[in-house]
Amino acid sequence: MDELEIVVLGCGSIGTALLQGLLKKGNPRYTYVAHVNTALSAERIESELESEARQRVVITYGQDKIVHAVANADVVLLGVQPQTLPKLLDSQGLVDTLQDKTIISMLAGVSVSQILDMLVAKSTSTGRANREAFTVARIIPTLGATRGNSVTLLAEPSESDTADRFRRVEKILSQCGSVIRVEESVMNSATAIGAVVHALAIVAVDSVTDASVAAGVPRSVAAAIASQSLNSASGLLSGKDRMLPEHLKAAMSTPGGITLNAVVDLDDSARSGIAAAVKAAVKYANRMND
Ligand SMILES: NC(=O)c1ccc[n+]([C@@H]2O[C@H](COP(=O)([O-])OP(=O)(O)OC[C@H]3O[C@@H](n4cnc5c(N)ncnc54)[C@H](OP(=O)(O)O)[C@@H]3O)[C@@H](O)[C@H]2O)c1
Repeated sequence: MDELEIVVLGCGSIGTALLQGLLKKGNPRYTYVAHVNTALSAERIESELESEARQRVVITYGQDKIVHAVANADVVLLGVQPQTLPKLLDSQGLVDTLQDKTIISMLAGVSVSQILDMLVAKSTSTGRANREAFTVARIIPTLGATRGNSVTLLAEPSESDTADRFRRVEKILSQCGSVIRVEESVMNSATAIGAVVHALAIVAVDSVTDASVAAGVPRSVAAAIASQSLNSASGLLSGKDRMLPEHLKAAMSTPGGITLNAVVDLDDSARSGIAAAVKAAVKYANRMND
């Protein structure tokens, strides 16, 4: 299906990133609604969208406009904070309106089953709906979506998904980056891994830049080298023909060379810290919404 109306219900940091990515790289026949809670956030979205893209997005806000916002949606991307979801679903008529839509949840730490439980509990119009009345997919995109470079985790089809709908979700998301299918049972751990790698990239660029400036290199030069080297290395380590870390290490290592000496230093000083950060993040992600 080419023409789709996609509603981002809760269009904050990550919702806006996905919206921008889809506007830049997605099917030009898609149209969008971005719905937020406050007028201030609506203004923010307005200012962040380029004027041509702006024409394809209806921006709405406020509790009383939610049902109207999703009324014609084919796909509803849920982008509110997990603790806000119960209140959002209490909006008069919303749950009933969602019954014929494909719902894609971006909520970290919230399972498809938990969302289905909430939807069923809050459905009202024709008596209580059963779980089959709803289609829910679960994703974790990254802010790279804004440049068409998201690494989106997509939980394998849930009890509420058909194969066709699942492929449609995958197709939409692949328009703003890569999509990695993950068993839902490891979705929280996979989310933690992505978060730690982003944290590592932040710390790597920041600390390498500071240390380089301390060693006398101009800040702009140091920052450019750090960020672009990260980009270059990740290009070699990713994609279909990616190099394994040990192959890249061997290719860059001459006896007594700078790279291998740096690897040996980092093995000593950083590897155990990184492993500890991954363990802690996985633990945190699995308990996030307890
Ligand atoms: N940030 C990330 O990198 C990231 C990555 C993957 C997944 N996630 C998940 O994505 C979700 C959103 O994260 P975020 O960082 O984008 O949060 P955020 O910036 O706080 O965005 C939340 C959005 O929800 C809106 N909202 C709140 N209450 C609402 C209501 N009653 N009706 C309609 N909209 C409402 C807010 O509008 P107002 O601003 O007007 O209040 C805001 O636009 C979270 O569940 C998070 O776990 C985030």
